[in-house]
Amino acid sequence: MNILGIESSCDETGVALVRAAASGTPTLLAHALHSQIDMHQAYGGVVPELASRDHIRRVLPLARQVMHEAGATLADIDVVAYTRGPGLAGALLVGAGVACSLAAALARPVVGVHHLEGHLLSPFLSADPPEFPFIALLVSGGHTQLMRVEDVGRYELLGETIDDAAGEAFDKSAKLLGLGYPGGPALARLAEFGDASSFTLPRPLLHSGTLDFSFAGLKTAVRTQALKLGSNVCEQDKANLAASTQQAIVDVLVRKSVQALRDTGLKRIVVAGGVGANALLREQLNRECAKRQVRVHYPELALCTDNGAMIALAAAMRLQRDSAAASTDYAFNVLPRWPLATANAAVS
Ligand code: KG4
Ligand code: ZN
Repeated sequence: MNILGIESSCDETGVALVRAAASGTPTLLAHALHSQIDMHQAYGGVVPELASRDHIRRVLPLARQVMHEAGATLADIDVVAYTRGPGLAGALLVGAGVACSLAAALARPVVGVHHLEGHLLSPFLSADPPEFPFIALLVSGGHTQLMRVEDVGRYELLGETIDDAAGEAFDKSAKLLGLGYPGGPALARLAEFGDASSFTLPRPLLHSGTLDFSFAGLKTAVRTQALKLGSNVCEQDKANLAASTQQAIVDVLVRKSVQALRDTGLKRIVVAGGVGANALLREQLNRECAKRQVRVHYPELALCTDNGAMIALAAAMRLQRDSAAASTDYAFNVLPRWPLATANAAVS
């Protein structure tokens, strides 16, 4: 079974072709990605209308490229999968529209996939795939969640952010430091030259005893420090503040992840979402988990941020368990706000 996956929930257009047997880990045949970062950079963040228009321009050429690289033709597609939500409504509609039209034209079924399910299953495409059950730390631009994952479609939310997501904390702090968009990688690069102990920043909810997160107070503290430094801030102070900010975010993510492992007694954790690419997070989490004989799994670096491969993969893994997950009702409706826990049942 070959599944074409289309991702268009935010600022990346991703298309991929994944092959899956009735059981076993699906394999990635080809994937292609177009990032809109350059286009949105001038505005300091994602402009939803521009994002939608660009998805329209990119999605078909990317699909052609994927089919060409996989040496496949349209007749080889058995199922078309797309990101149904959460995300920007207009952007989601582009992927959903293309996926459902293509599926209707080919008389093949469609699967609407939850974006976060794609992220948390993405390590199954890595050389060292995890086994169920595991803890998932989902850290993207819009979400920060700890989940207990029993199997595909069996997700229990253990804790989440009550305000900003970890990615937003990176992005907003980076903006305060005058760094480019997206802020996470830019702040992480600058932090390499800084001393993380230079600034004392809060670690909100660190000792709350719950698995919830809060990053809004941290952003305010970074703003206060940035204002104190003024407009003539030297590069070293900036790097020091970047390093201190990154350390505060990573400390909270690592501490709460360890707590989730302790609370559940699980010995496996999957880290997914864009912030999962952060080198300091990986280093500290690996260290803490090694001490506790816990295995840590990450997606391949190229599949950490949004991509079509994770969407095709999630659809494939759903279909391996439930063939009714695919639909021939092509009257799609996207779900810009879609809690992952409600995706536990059938997708349609
Ligand atoms: O999962 P993702 O690509 O998109 C969403 O679904 O939101 O995550 C994007 C987020 C952005 O906030 C970006 O700044 C952050 O991931 N990010 C990073 C790094 N690479 C991407 N944050 C910290 N360090 C990185 N290396
Ligand atoms: Zn994402």
